[in-house]
Amino acid sequence: MAGKRVLVREDLNVPMSKGAVADDARVRAAAPTLQHLAQRGARVIVMSHLGRPQDREPDLSLKPIAADLARRVGREVQFADDCVGEPATSAADRLQSGQVLLLENVRYHKEDEANDAGFARRLASLGDVYVNDAFAASHRAHASVVGVAAYLPAYAGELMETELKALRQALDNPRRPMVAVVGGAKVSTKVGVLRNLLRKVDSLLIGGAMANTFFKARGWPTGSGLVEDIALEEANEVTAEAGEKLVLPVDLVCARKMESGEALRLLDADKVEPGWMALDIGPRSVTLFTEKLRGAGTVIWNGPVGVAEIKDFSDGTREVGEAIARSGAYTLVGGGDTVAAIESLGLNGRFSHVSTGGGATLEYLEGKELPGIAILKEA
Ligand code: 3PG
Repeated sequence: MAGKRVLVREDLNVPMSKGAVADDARVRAAAPTLQHLAQRGARVIVMSHLGRPQDREPDLSLKPIAADLARRVGREVQFADDCVGEPATSAADRLQSGQVLLLENVRYHKEDEANDAGFARRLASLGDVYVNDAFAASHRAHASVVGVAAYLPAYAGELMETELKALRQALDNPRRPMVAVVGGAKVSTKVGVLRNLLRKVDSLLIGGAMANTFFKARGWPTGSGLVEDIALEEANEVTAEAGEKLVLPVDLVCARKMESGEALRLLDADKVEPGWMALDIGPRSVTLFTEKLRGAGTVIWNGPVGVAEIKDFSDGTREVGEAIARSGAYTLVGGGDTVAAIESLGLNGRFSHVSTGGGATLEYLEGKELPGIAILKEA
């Protein structure tokens, strides 16, 4: 390893605010692989995307992230103004054993997303070996994730291994009973996850706006709540497939608008009145969910059960999160909104594994093969 140029794909696609990193969870998660490679004398070259730039949008430069990365890795992180061409090759050539270099946003080149072979070869020319540590980007068949593996020996990084171990433990070898809590707004984006989880779990608890679509599919009134009419049939199919496994909320915290300070009413799930919308699950639902979670062996949680970013509608998510944390089960939390919710509700550090993946975790939970993981198996 000493002296080798190790090209590492990380997912440093972090939320930014006014030019600074707003949440460094992905930077922290990336650090161990980079630290250990540098300690072993590798010349570490890091590539990542940030956002979805249309061209060289300055706001989506990775430059401000270099300082955060340096703090977490515990060594200086150099920066190259481009991920290919002279800035990248000269910085990589100058790099000494044990030093770390961060390359500019790979998506400043549209060839990355196109998985262009020539671009992948140019990236690969910077390294002697390739390490994919970007679990959260591994559902993307892009040049910096997948393409480079055609030109270099490919390995999994430590974060990638941690993520895969956690997902496999939860999905393939679960301690029973196994419970999934799925929330969020849309059935259509999660129907694949629901179907795949149903084949594995003992109970499937559904909250969030997506529960409305299940209510409407049963013919229950949903007031002015968000319903996905195009997904009614799928909701019915999932209901039929799930049988006794499916647990829906029985009472709902409703308001006339999705705003804080609104008058609230607690309504039965089958009696939501016109002009009212469900924005959180009610206390009887929390009790019902908590009973299902007590004594669980494995819990997978994806999606808040209410509008957790507004305090008035966050009690259900906090209490269900508490119940998951207290369950004693192996607990796996995934998906961007869920991770944001546990941070804002002070539930951090109370789960067995919190995935860095958003879309990638969802696709994994759907049972799909992620291209960035498939290339590691082939390698
Ligand atoms: C994510 O944030 O889920 C990953 O970084 C992937 O980003 P993308 O959806 O822009 O490809």
